[in-house]
Amino acid sequence: MSFQSMYRERKREASEAIWLVQDGDTIVVPIAAGEPPALLRALSEHRREFRDVTVFQMLPLHQPDYFDPETTQHVRHSSPFLGGPNRAGVHEGWIDVVPSHFSEVPRLIRRGLVPTDVVFAHASPMSEDGMLAIGLSPDYTMAAIEKARTVVLEVNPQVPFAHGPCRVHISQVTAVVESDEPLVEIPPTTIGDVERAIAGYVGELVPDGATLQIGIGAIPDAVVQQLASKRDLGIHTEMFGDGILTLLEAGGATNRRKNRHPGVTIATFALGSHRLYDYLDDNPSVQMHPVDVTNDPVLAGQNDRLHSINGSLQVDLIGQCGSETLAHKPYSGTGGQFDFVRAANRSEGGRSFIVLPSTAKGGTISRIAPTLAPGTHVTTSKNDVDHVVTEYGVARLRGRTLRERARALIAIAHPDFRAELTEAAEQLRIV
Ligand code: COA
Repeated sequence: MSFQSMYRERKREASEAIWLVQDGDTIVVPIAAGEPPALLRALSEHRREFRDVTVFQMLPLHQPDYFDPETTQHVRHSSPFLGGPNRAGVHEGWIDVVPSHFSEVPRLIRRGLVPTDVVFAHASPMSEDGMLAIGLSPDYTMAAIEKARTVVLEVNPQVPFAHGPCRVHISQVTAVVESDEPLVEIPPTTIGDVERAIAGYVGELVPDGATLQIGIGAIPDAVVQQLASKRDLGIHTEMFGDGILTLLEAGGATNRRKNRHPGVTIATFALGSHRLYDYLDDNPSVQMHPVDVTNDPVLAGQNDRLHSINGSLQVDLIGQCGSETLAHKPYSGTGGQFDFVRAANRSEGGRSFIVLPSTAKGGTISRIAPTLAPGTHVTTSKNDVDHVVTEYGVARLRGRTLRERARALIAIAHPDFRAELTEAAEQLRIV
């Protein structure tokens, strides 16, 4: 049978395809732009006709109707990384959190620790040789496709036919649903004086020839702007965003000096503008890989001069970073922060930067705190943290004593809080 006939045989409406889901199933859905909107809409519409179905997804960027506290006995959401749409449901207790490093999610799926019965994912149109690309988000989706009983792809011509091990053959697919909806785009971040100052410090420490992992948000975006004058940067990251695209287009990132995957940009999910998604389409200079490749600390750390830049919410005086909760309340997730901190620690000439403004809530709260607020989840431990950067400078912590750490961190706290932090450090007998 030709690949075209196999495709035609599998074609369904979204309202039909959802009946491939059985009561009790877990449906794995890719991160961010990889989520298939038509399938999630159809599932939401019919949610009351299912029982005990779980949808597992990191960082949803839409709010499908099944995010509904009244219908969780039918379809329930569970996630290792929160965004705006699922945060309130977690705080109210009707959405579940599965703690995990991003790099570990494929392993949880392969070992059955996260059940995987069905995959609903966005895919590119099929090539002549029967391949469809999960180019926006191979991350944990490729492992889920191997494991699932049922694979339903929402084929959308706007999804790039990306390169790398992110492709699936039509014979592995149970059903295809066609749609042509615009992909989710994120607007450019607002970069102010604080972000620019932090980025300036980081930029000074990134050498020519560094390999970069750049996190999500305004500070990482500001860092990218500071790197415009660097040469021969390499990209080995989890998120491929517009900042990285700018570096590639300006010629500052050549990938020439990377030890692993020289000459190509490596990422595991893409999130940004339409221009970014177009850039990925049939572009062999960017490869999209599963997250257990991009974020594996051993593999990523084989790149010399790996520099990783990620945000945090609070850091205590010994360097523990609470990057994902506000006290006990989840705000985001671990994501790849710890994966890349460890990778940079292994890398010859590598550095990791935890970046954060010195204060929150209009300057009323110091984000450098004597101890983390009770219940805070530690994202990067004291044994792994390397550099912490605020708009007041850089605290290099790795290899340093608790006393040295506290002094270095107080020196980059907001001046209004330095006296009380020093007093607290003395009371805690750290200094
Ligand atoms: N106490 C009280 N409130 C605080 C606070 C603190 N110590 N720190 C931050 N906040 C508040 C902020 O004021 C803000 O509230 P607002 O929206 O009402 O203004 C909110 O918490 C979020 O803080 P902000 O600094 O704006 O966060 P962000 O959107 O820039 O995201 C992280 C930063 C830390 C959440 C994000 O980088 C992250 O999730 N990191 C962990 C995972 C990771 O690094 N992954 C790898 C890259 S994908």
